[in-house]
Amino acid sequence: MLSAVLSLNALGLAAAAPLESRQVVPHYPPTQQSKGFHLIANLTDPSQDFTPPVNSWQLSGIHVGAGLNDAVLAASKGQLFYQNGTAEQTRYNQAHTLSDGGTPLFPWGIAVDDQADTEGVLHGISINAGSGQVGIQLAQFPEHYPILRTPAPGTYVACNQTEPYYHTNYITVRAMFDTFDSTTGRYVRHVPENCVAITLVPQCAELPALPSGSMSSHEFANTVNCYADVASIDWPEYGP
Ligand SMILES: *[C@@H]1O[C@H](CO)[C@@H](O)[C@H](O)[C@H]1NC(C)=O
Ligand SMILES: *[C@@H]1O[C@H](CO)[C@@H](O)[C@H](O)[C@H]1NC(C)=O
Ligand SMILES: *[C@@H]1O[C@H](CO)[C@@H](O)[C@H](O)[C@H]1NC(C)=O
Repeated sequence: MLSAVLSLNALGLAAAAPLESRQVVPHYPPTQQSKGFHLIANLTDPSQDFTPPVNSWQLSGIHVGAGLNDAVLAASKGQLFYQNGTAEQTRYNQAHTLSDGGTPLFPWGIAVDDQADTEGVLHGISINAGSGQVGIQLAQFPEHYPILRTPAPGTYVACNQTEPYYHTNYITVRAMFDTFDSTTGRYVRHVPENCVAITLVPQCAELPALPSGSMSSHEFANTVNCYADVASIDWPEYGP
């Protein structure tokens, strides 16, 4: 990108004429800061959306057993998350993403099943009681967007899948890892038939104070960069 910007500038200079002012410097949607956030699904290619469309749906957990939640997209209010870790843990991508639930409130953490690192395999995502997975946190500089990181190069996907616990279909959230093609020297992205690639984008929300007796703690809840309203961002306006 930098070289493209430089060559455009060089062209501008070579032309040596006052060109109409045109923004060639990459710019990004404005972020705000908060401790709480919802995670909004942003379809990488909106033309691939399901019917009804799920772009801008929110990450949420559905009960699939005692202390076990599976990750799905919900049309309305999703779960409220916060990023947990010391400043140093966060800086080194060693924080994790939590939500509070139950009575009294205790932490539920996002985890990606990254054991079977095989091509074409959907990796399950849980939001189970506990700390979740270290490294599942928001991306930081030099990444341009504070989206939820995947544990390996790849993408989150939204899939139309049967939830055995309910015998009905949900739009589940899974991860797909890229594979390395040694002949081209490039990473190859895989998105199965019944799935669409998404990013999970933080939308700012207030993290309420915990009632006394809670087993959760917000002592290490990070102040994160997030967007006021992800669905209203006009993406083509921005970016490199
Ligand atoms: C959101 O999706 C649009 C495509 O509709 C894409 O241009 C943009 O980069 C995406 N943003 C993020 C943060 O993933
Ligand atoms: C999901 O798949 C089921 C079964 O094939 C189908 O009936 C349903 O319409 C699909 N839902 C979406 C949102 O595509
Ligand atoms: C949150 O982060 C702090 C600091 O690393 C840690 O002590 C605490 O156990 C974490 N909370 C959970 C639920 O893992």
